[in-house]
Amino acid sequence: GDVAVLVPAAGAGVRLGPGAPKALRLLAGEPLLVHAVRRIAAAPSVHAIVVAAPATEVEAVRAMLAPVAPVTVVPGGAERQASVAAALAAVPAGPEIVLVHDAARALTPPHLVESVAAAVRDGHDAVIPVLPVVDTIKEVDATERVLGTVDRSALRAVQTPQGFRRSVLVAAHRSAGDALTDDAGLIEKQGGAVMCVPGSELALKITRPFDMALAEHLLTTGA
Ligand code: CTP
Ligand code: MG
Repeated sequence: GDVAVLVPAAGAGVRLGPGAPKALRLLAGEPLLVHAVRRIAAAPSVHAIVVAAPATEVEAVRAMLAPVAPVTVVPGGAERQASVAAALAAVPAGPEIVLVHDAARALTPPHLVESVAAAVRDGHDAVIPVLPVVDTIKEVDATERVLGTVDRSALRAVQTPQGFRRSVLVAAHRSAGDALTDDAGLIEKQGGAVMCVPGSELALKITRPFDMALAEHLLTTGA
């Protein structure tokens, strides 16, 4: 395998409501992070996995993942971007393709990991999985008055794993300024090209209690 996967998993899960850090919460009896890592490890191109865990949970996460797959676990940071940077710094020499994949997208199928990696291998420096936007989108002002309707056909909803030529991601993080919600945004800011590939509905980000219920249903019906 020529691919390393960074798994930012150090978030609190505030929007899920009170409880353990999100990556450690149970979905059908297993932590979200276990579901996520199992699917990443099932992708044949994956050679190394580096997890950024909540700083107080590094040992617990190591023990939890040992039976699932060989992983390196490092303490994450206060922002997602800092967690990604910490994981990136721990990638072993070798892999020239680096994917960044949210633990919160716990049901992401291995074939999506492969298709993102394949697009980087084919020569794209930065690759993101996307879905079309299904809702009508309005732009509003501060008082919620509608300013207009956005042309949905030109919009995409972005998922992970996002894939990068390793040198490109390292350079982007080195010169990164303000935190962004995704890694491809760092490349865009620096004028780099980012290419889309088809995403997967199973790669939904588990964010709110509704998403946990949906993910539980999907798992018990075969995801
Ligand atoms: N993440 C991280 N380090 C942080 C914040 C987030 O590694 N300091 C990770 C989360 O663990 C998650 C991914 O980034 O896998 C996407 O973040 P999000 O879905 O926002 O998760 P949380 O930040 O945990 O959730 P919330 O924003 O509701 O607290
Ligand atoms: Mg968050």
